[in-house]
Amino acid sequence: MITTACVCGSGTMGTGIAIAFGLKKIPTILFDTNPDNLEKARDYIKKYIDKQNVKFGDSKQNFDFILDNISFTPDINRCKAELIIEAIVENESVKTDLYKKLEALNDDSSIIASNTSSLSISALQESLSRPENFAGLHFFNPAQIMKLVEVIKGNKTSDKVITILKETCEIINKQPVICIDSPGFIVNRVARPYYLEAMSLVEKGLCRIDEVDKVLESAGFKMGPFKLMDLIGLDINYNVSCLVWEQLGKPDRLKPSKLQQEKVNKGELGIKTKKGFYQY
Ligand code: NAI
Repeated sequence: MITTACVCGSGTMGTGIAIAFGLKKIPTILFDTNPDNLEKARDYIKKYIDKQNVKFGDSKQNFDFILDNISFTPDINRCKAELIIEAIVENESVKTDLYKKLEALNDDSSIIASNTSSLSISALQESLSRPENFAGLHFFNPAQIMKLVEVIKGNKTSDKVITILKETCEIINKQPVICIDSPGFIVNRVARPYYLEAMSLVEKGLCRIDEVDKVLESAGFKMGPFKLMDLIGLDINYNVSCLVWEQLGKPDRLKPSKLQQEKVNKGELGIKTKKGFYQY
């Protein structure tokens, strides 16, 4: 069983993942090179705790312990743990630079797992001196709430590591699904047409953004495609579209949307910038 964790990247995903470990009282280091983002993460966790304390106030449950289990640091030398989850920017060379530093700092038995949405686990693994201890661990947004975690086995990942990751997910109350390493894994691959067709309808003037969301939500989807893209981050979602499209040989049916590209270029990235397809 994993007794110490480290999450690299205190953005949207890293913060939620740290909460999921904190909720199970597993001591967790949250590392980010940007101190402002560490402060934002601390504020987000405080707000989450306050909400939980109000929600479960009647049963006298108190969630203050979550913060006691998370330590925040901009110092990479503190990134020592049995399980290290990388949730930094979706850029292969930035990620692999970090892995090299993490491997040098940690024991041979430490596991490094990437939360990447779209990069190949087998390719990322090539940069490591202990590739057998590396896998994908793909959480969904918001990570403290969403149950599903895709556990991705790269070509060189050991079976033992997959078993440990699967058990760790269960301990933190998640539902792990073992996936093979293919573009977009399962969810992001299947979800691509959901976003792309929605944007195509709007680009062609056939439907309004709010209409598409309303119709899909009425049809039983928890979130319409535009609301979901705003939640995920348009930059992250656009990047996934580009990488899946490229890795599958650029098929027309999965061509990334111009509408989304324009939004990304304007810095309208969704909830995190207070403007995306909607205004916040
Ligand atoms: P984000 O942009 O919200 O946060 C990334 C954080 O990483 C930032 O705080 C940044 O300062 C930090 N960072 C960048 N380079 C770093 C480095 N070298 N060392 C330490 N920290 C560094 O990104 P987000 O959305 O949390 O995504 C992170 C990863 O999770 C990406 O690989 C993304 O594809 C994946 N992902 C994102 C999902 C989403 O809904 N946003 C869903 C599932 C996976």
